[in-house]
Amino acid sequence: MNIKPVPYICEMLTLSSRGQLMPPSPIRKLVPYAEAAKKKGFKVYHLNIGQPDIETPEQILNAVRHADFKVLEYSHSAGNESYRRKLVTYYKKAGIEVDHTQIIVTTGGSEAILFGFMACLDPGDEVIIPEPFYANYNGFAVAAGVKVVPVTSHIESGFALPPIAAFEQLVTPKTKAILICNPNNPTGYLYSREEMETLKLIVKKHNLYLFSDEAYREFSYVGEPMSAMQLAGIEENVILMDTISKRYSACGGRIGALVTKNQHVLDGVMKFAQARLSPPSFAQILGEAAVDLPDNYFDGTKAEYKKRRDVLVKRLNEMEGVTCPNPGGAFYAMARLPIDDCDKFCQWLLEDFSYNGATVMLAPATGFYGTPGLGKNEVRLAYVLNVNDLNKAMDCLQEALKVYPGKK
Ligand SMILES: Cc1ncc(COP(=O)(O)O)c(C=O)c1O
Repeated sequence: MNIKPVPYICEMLTLSSRGQLMPPSPIRKLVPYAEAAKKKGFKVYHLNIGQPDIETPEQILNAVRHADFKVLEYSHSAGNESYRRKLVTYYKKAGIEVDHTQIIVTTGGSEAILFGFMACLDPGDEVIIPEPFYANYNGFAVAAGVKVVPVTSHIESGFALPPIAAFEQLVTPKTKAILICNPNNPTGYLYSREEMETLKLIVKKHNLYLFSDEAYREFSYVGEPMSAMQLAGIEENVILMDTISKRYSACGGRIGALVTKNQHVLDGVMKFAQARLSPPSFAQILGEAAVDLPDNYFDGTKAEYKKRRDVLVKRLNEMEGVTCPNPGGAFYAMARLPIDDCDKFCQWLLEDFSYNGATVMLAPATGFYGTPGLGKNEVRLAYVLNVNDLNKAMDCLQEALKVYPGKK
């Protein structure tokens, strides 16, 4: 049969409405300005992104280097059983009792969040998220057709959990879930036991899912974090979204996990997991070896981040007009600056400012709020630089605030 080729007419092709709605990363949008600053010969201190500078432990890299196999094959869609069994040990140490059948290994925590949304929520369903929140939740929500309903936490209270009444006001017949991140990105806030119990009450009352993103579990500086998995009485509601990215400075490994005791959810998630075949094999080997790291491994990394937090928060609060609550966990801090507009300020830092041949890259806070107009005078700082560089970055910021044309 003679098939006539159809002419390729670009104008006729349209992007899906989902593709159009998909938000670009508010953190990465400043990258071209940072690149231009570097081309001009300036040093850029990156406090904008949560890429840990702490070295990935040699021991877990070696497990990958010395892995012995003839075929790099697909793993089980839920992840290697040996890895999932190892993770049971990891979770036990963290005070979380699960068995390996309740763990689905994912391609990063990102996929765990996406799978959680896809398996539990219908298009049009609503998920309440304390804002400011990890900006990529917006992207996963668009992908799943889910509506993000922000409940505002405030810098004045250090970004504590909003009161129960604020949640209650937002619950509608479409509300299906609450999503928390604990310790929090971007605020660094660590929810207390009481706050977690408050959440339990709302979840129970309205029979909601509680998605709990615990990517930063190990980095808590004011006592032990409470996992949502430890909340008695809502075991079926809780979906833990986890990742090794920050824990072992292994962001490029792309390994995470979705953990729940809810068998229906596991069955639903498993179908998504099967459709994408399997999570990365190399990083499962790395993840498995990571569970065997000595128990004191986190003492070192935690002490380093705490030292940096102390320097950063002190330096910020010493600057005129700057407020920065002391974060209880993760490696982020949110600061209020005496500026007109954080997006303009962050761009200006890269385009028009330098001090001693350097400048600093920050994340404008507007991208972390769902409510338009909020966060205009706030920025997020990731303390992923050593103390020396952190101090130099703070010198830059201090000088910048003196000369910024949009100073308030
Ligand atoms: C709160 C939070 N959740 C999830 C992720 C995604 O993690 P992963 O690299 O495992 O996809 C990040 C990454 O920055 C994060 O900060």
